[in-house]
Amino acid sequence: MRELSLYILDIAQNSLSAGAKHIDISVEENTTADTILICITDNGHGMAPQQVLQVTNPFYTTRTTRRVGMGISLFRLAAEQSGGSLEISSIPEQGTTLTAMFVRSHIDRPPIGDMEGTITALIRLNPKIDFCYKRSIDERSFSVDTTQLRKILGEVTLDTPEVVSWISEYIQEQNSLLSGACAPD
Ligand SMILES: Nc1ncnc2c1ncn2[C@@H]1O[C@H](COP(=O)(O)OP(=O)(O)OP(=O)(O)O)[C@@H](O)[C@H]1O
Ligand SMILES: [Mg+2]
Repeated sequence: MRELSLYILDIAQNSLSAGAKHIDISVEENTTADTILICITDNGHGMAPQQVLQVTNPFYTTRTTRRVGMGISLFRLAAEQSGGSLEISSIPEQGTTLTAMFVRSHIDRPPIGDMEGTITALIRLNPKIDFCYKRSIDERSFSVDTTQLRKILGEVTLDTPEVVSWISEYIQEQNSLLSGACAPD
């Protein structure tokens, strides 16, 4: 079973391809509602309504249009197979929001996976892009926001090895604090 962090990496890659300069990624777990909500929002070039339809209905459109990619379709399939859903909203020239909902306790729900690796790789490989990552379990949460880190770092860039290690360790540490009361993934 593919981990959710790998789907998130794929979706963030779409945002980068769309020329986004700012990407918000959130992974929010709600133990009462029994859901995991994943939201990726970018300020890239967006999609026209017709294209959003094509992207969310790949099997309907593949026969009549050029190749339609698999990233979103596979993520949607994973969400639906665990009793959830995936939605996209997009405004041309403004950006795109993709929201995927998973039923947390569903037997087919993929593990969250290595979010620390995903976020660290995105920041390290795209030091000029701003990322804001938010992770929560019920009322407990933490976030990493590169716009704030940039202010502290001054001239030091986000791909500096020491900065990358710090981000990685911070996410790891916060994550273990978060999942302290919950069974880890
Ligand atoms: N955030 C986004 N902003 C603008 N367009 C997007 C965005 N995400 C997806 N798209 C459009 O939807 C298409 C389908 O995306 P999808 O991830 O399913 O496949 P792909 O990226 O084309 O290929 P693959 O992910 O298989 O390498 C993209 O080619 C792109 O045109
Ligand atoms: Mg893609």
